[in-house]
Amino acid sequence: MVLARPTFYITTPIYYPSDNLHIGHAYTTVAADTVARFKKLTGYDVYFLTGSDEHGQKIERMAAARGKSPKEYVDEIVAGFKHLWSQLDIEYSDFIRTTEERHKRVVTEIFRRLHEQGDIYKSSYEGLYCTPCEAFWTERQVGDGNCPDCGRPVELVAEESYFFRMSRYADRLLAHIERHPDFIQPVSRRNEVVSFIKMGLEDLCVSRTTFDWGIPVPFDPKHVIYVWVDALTNYISALNYGAKDDTLYRRYWPAVHLVGKDIVRFHCIIWPIILMAAGVPLPRRVVGHGWLMLDSGKMSKSKGNVVDPLVLIDKYGVDAIRYYLLREMLFGVDGYYSEENLIRRINVDLANDLGNLLSRITAMINKYLDGEIKAPRPADDPLDRELIDLALITPGEVAGLVDQLDLSAALGAVMKLAGRANKYIEETAPWVLAKDPEHSERMATVMYNLAESYRIATVLLSPFMPGLPARVWDQLGISDQPELQTWESLTWGRLPVGTRIARGAPLFPRLEVGK
Ligand code: ME8
Repeated sequence: MVLARPTFYITTPIYYPSDNLHIGHAYTTVAADTVARFKKLTGYDVYFLTGSDEHGQKIERMAAARGKSPKEYVDEIVAGFKHLWSQLDIEYSDFIRTTEERHKRVVTEIFRRLHEQGDIYKSSYEGLYCTPCEAFWTERQVGDGNCPDCGRPVELVAEESYFFRMSRYADRLLAHIERHPDFIQPVSRRNEVVSFIKMGLEDLCVSRTTFDWGIPVPFDPKHVIYVWVDALTNYISALNYGAKDDTLYRRYWPAVHLVGKDIVRFHCIIWPIILMAAGVPLPRRVVGHGWLMLDSGKMSKSKGNVVDPLVLIDKYGVDAIRYYLLREMLFGVDGYYSEENLIRRINVDLANDLGNLLSRITAMINKYLDGEIKAPRPADDPLDRELIDLALITPGEVAGLVDQLDLSAALGAVMKLAGRANKYIEETAPWVLAKDPEHSERMATVMYNLAESYRIATVLLSPFMPGLPARVWDQLGISDQPELQTWESLTWGRLPVGTRIARGAPLFPRLEVGK
């Protein structure tokens, strides 16, 4: 009997095509891609979804300003998203666009259902409105009666709108969060969400009549459905929820949603409540990561301080950029980007600890063992035992950290193994062993242990830096042995005696600061 593999569904936010993406967006997608690849490596049947959130007034206006239809405008930007993801080695299963029919069908159906069961009702939205800015303000924001943005007078207007009875579900949501301690991570975000719900949920305005670029309310087409109801639904519309053939939905839902901290509330309050009302199981987890900041504050197009990932990939290579983003962003908190920092990480971690280790191993095997892996002695030396034990526990440790989405710590664990191997070279001093032919067996053992540790580290790094392994396998002489490159191969002693080692170019050349 063949057992079905366990499934794993991970998503990124669907990004707004209002601008090109910057390294903050790249971080979320690279992190989700790495988790997806790691889960695949460890035997899961994985589905990884990303996409674009294409409706709304802002997009409508940006298109108009460029003399384009909204669809023409988003088509161009979305092509740019896909290009960026291919440059970043992102291996998604599907890319959902909210302008696709398959998506609109599900949003429309859910809206209709919630209306029929009385969770969505029509009322009117009253507020202080600034007509030139097309924005509603609260009394406190307005203060003196003028728009806080443009300073012109605001008026009291009432707009007909549909509302979603969120309050009805607040207690059930709180109970769910309590019963599932992992539902919202990290704990700091969970606490924020819980206190927000406890302050009391108001009904949510879920339609607009002030613009057209959106999905119409099916039974009242002068209204379009509010962007967040439209956007959040992508996570199930992409799986053909409610379709005749809903195999994907049945196989993969519920998901792990990876999102930035800015949109945790939408994912932890509005989305679960929509799902509860629609009778759909809630997401497995919502993980909110921090922001990637600049010394000058948050990256934003209006500040003109965004960092373009394509430029960095061109300059430093995709593996180095992925490594940097994943290592630098600690779990759940903000990280700071600077090019000096990036160069330091490349030089210290990649060129020195990782790249130089491989150069040393291949150079020594060439020099001392004629370029061939020779039979090791059983590990009776405590130094050997220590290295081997670390190589054997590291995979489990890395897998546990990836499960918690603590990718920085997961990389740290692999780098610890590389660091231990570097230290092992100093401790065993092969250049001393080489002086006496009596030590030839010891030399063979030391070289075996180093090459085998490097093989294990490389398998573990493959989801983080997908371009790296092929270059390492060439040098370790096992390119044509895929069975030595798998998760199952991470036991000790798989590297065959007689393997020919090849010296190759440095994995990560050292960078000169300032050049
Ligand atoms: O919010 N650091 O889209 P968006 C880290 N369409 N991550 C960052 C970041 C930064 N400086 N800036 C952006 C939307 N992000 C909605 C989502 S989902 C149903 C709808 C990442 O294009 C982060 O993941 O504004 C954030 O949540 C997302 O980009 C926002 O992307």
